[in-house]
Amino acid sequence: MARNGRQADLLIHNATIIDGTGAPGFTGAVAIADDRIAWVGREAELGEIEAATVLDAGGRVLAPGFIDVHTHDDSVLLSRGEMTPKVTQGVTTVIAGNCGVSLAPLALDSAPPPPLDLLGGPETYRFPRFADYVAALEAAPAAVNAALLVGHSTLRVGVMSELDRPATPGEIDRMKEHLDESLAAGAIGFSSGLFYPPSAAAPADEVAALLEPLAGTGALYTTHMRDEGDHVEDSLEETFETAARAGVPVVISHHKCTGRKNFGRSVATLERIDAARTRQDVGLDVYPYTAGSTVLLPEMLRGAERVIVTWSVPHPEQAGRDLDAVAAEWGCGLEEAARRLGPAGAIYFMMDEADVRRILAYPHAMVGSDGLPLDKHPHPRLWGTFARVLGHYVREVGLLTLEEAVRRMTGLSAERFGLDGRGVIREGAFADLVLFDPETIIDRATYEEPARAAAGIGLVMVNGQIVLRDGAPSGARPGRLLRRAGPGKPPVQAEIPA
Ligand code: ZN
Ligand code: CU
Repeated sequence: MARNGRQADLLIHNATIIDGTGAPGFTGAVAIADDRIAWVGREAELGEIEAATVLDAGGRVLAPGFIDVHTHDDSVLLSRGEMTPKVTQGVTTVIAGNCGVSLAPLALDSAPPPPLDLLGGPETYRFPRFADYVAALEAAPAAVNAALLVGHSTLRVGVMSELDRPATPGEIDRMKEHLDESLAAGAIGFSSGLFYPPSAAAPADEVAALLEPLAGTGALYTTHMRDEGDHVEDSLEETFETAARAGVPVVISHHKCTGRKNFGRSVATLERIDAARTRQDVGLDVYPYTAGSTVLLPEMLRGAERVIVTWSVPHPEQAGRDLDAVAAEWGCGLEEAARRLGPAGAIYFMMDEADVRRILAYPHAMVGSDGLPLDKHPHPRLWGTFARVLGHYVREVGLLTLEEAVRRMTGLSAERFGLDGRGVIREGAFADLVLFDPETIIDRATYEEPARAAAGIGLVMVNGQIVLRDGAPSGARPGRLLRRAGPGKPPVQAEIPA
């Protein structure tokens, strides 16, 4: 298989190649030419490749760059395009617009209602058409690739005068027009956040109607379900039924079972997901922590055993403090303290470690951070998710193999979201790569000190350009907008050398 005289920009050799398909790692080399992987295989088969730069990986792991399938990076892709929390843990692609909240299409001149304020203030919402946002991103690319979802709550805020009722047929038509425009401009799907006030009054019928434009386009539906606690199983059934009516694939966002009395329920929820998968296309994502994080609202405190303030507009000085301590200092109850802090965000401890592990170990679960990049004192998942799975759950706990963990961050994710030529190491695929040390990779972000970069990441490359080297961002911005592959296109298959 020697290909004499071949030219490459970079040759990484003596690497343990884990290709993203779940296949066993092997020692080999990868040649990169322009934005693509030109050659991959065992060194004995390498032949003569003339490379401008040759890098000895020293046996470390070379994997496809990680795909963060659950992000709220819509606005930071523009305002903090170096994407340091992501590139420092090996992420090369983010899916934005999750949980019903997308930056476009929406123009606002007053404060966005929670949770739309997780993406910024009114000045951030300045793209009346999805195409305007896409144009802004393409004019000023970020360090990582991005694929975009359109948010149900964003559409509701743009179209409806009151949000505490179902949309009228006329409003649904207008939301569908925005959705059509967004899909045409490059959105890969639609997300809902039925748990949150702007969409809680939307019945399943409204969502099913909005999913109609997706059918047959290759676009998918992701959902932060109506209930992840006492009624989590009802919400799963609602999700399956809604997606099935429209005939679109669905991804259950950040799957979890919240509240002490629901601990252990993931046995039942995963069984329901298994059953649904025999009938329809269902996926899920998960983050490796027992605390969640979102806006701080008094009605969300129930079921949480500890709450940490992540940001507050009237009281920025309280970010990082326990809500208990703030309430004690103010001499009021928790709900009153939450009310006085708002608009604000929080971390909620409300899950069982055994459930987190069971969901992480589920073969169809993808890894997504759900990081909130604008929070003053963010949940550590923003900086730590991928390194925590590989360092803590693979190496320290032995919950899953390295190959399998990598697949859930790369190949599976690219296939599920229809990202052509991503998530695998094979000839012709895009050169989105991460080189890491499986013996030392670990998250360093904690609840106390959340903005700490992961350890053990050596090199990160996006579309053939280095974005991180020895822990330092390079400043390059080679990210692209990723459009969906389209219906019926087979996912990229890796060639596994004999
Ligand atoms: Zn969510
Ligand atoms: Cu989210």
